[in-house]
Amino acid sequence: MQAQPLQQPIAATVAELLRLHPVAAVVLERHKIDFLCRGKQTLAMACAAAGVTLPALLAEITEASQTVQLDWSTLPPSALCDAIEARFHLPLVDELPRLGALAERVLLVHGATDGELLHAVAHTLDQIVGDLVPHMASEEDEVFPLIREGQGREAVAVIRATQREHDTLASLFSLLRRQTNDYTPPPHAGAQWRALYAAMADLESETHEHIRMEDDVLTTVLSAVERA
Ligand SMILES: [Fe+2]
Ligand SMILES: [Fe+2]
Repeated sequence: MQAQPLQQPIAATVAELLRLHPVAAVVLERHKIDFLCRGKQTLAMACAAAGVTLPALLAEITEASQTVQLDWSTLPPSALCDAIEARFHLPLVDELPRLGALAERVLLVHGATDGELLHAVAHTLDQIVGDLVPHMASEEDEVFPLIREGQGREAVAVIRATQREHDTLASLFSLLRRQTNDYTPPPHAGAQWRALYAAMADLESETHEHIRMEDDVLTTVLSAVERA
């Protein structure tokens, strides 16, 4: 099936582009467009700095999507790290503080009647954030640089050694799911409470996919490179 050509405006920023089209990592890397530290820059600015027009870049991404069909397991290891950072890590820089603030507001509004439940939920969310932030930092500072330097075997060893951090996160989300009755707000919940549970459900499903990318896809790609 022919992929539809990407249209302007596809995404305002480089990070958004990657979130919508992970395979764009390959094309961005080809043009040496930094989508980690500068993932929030606009596509127009990134193209201007890289000396490529936006239509030309989108055409290349369309072509890439036809050949690799958004299959992350076909990305080179360094591009896969870039895509994981852009797709899963970068959005959490804003989302985790937003969620924490939302949980505080819900507690403020409903604390008098549902304080026990909401304190427990906020506490579990705090634990998740407290585990997730340093975990991602260690991947960005230790694991992904090893992969980019071509030390895939060492990186796999670190990933295996830190796998229990993924297990802990999965357990915390199971607890959160139980505490929130599968993220089902009670009938008297207000809009912010409903928004909090919806955002928590999204965070859980994103984290499951994030973990799968690292535990399964990334380690498989690295093992394949080692064997080649
Ligand atoms: Fe990660
Ligand atoms: Fe991870």
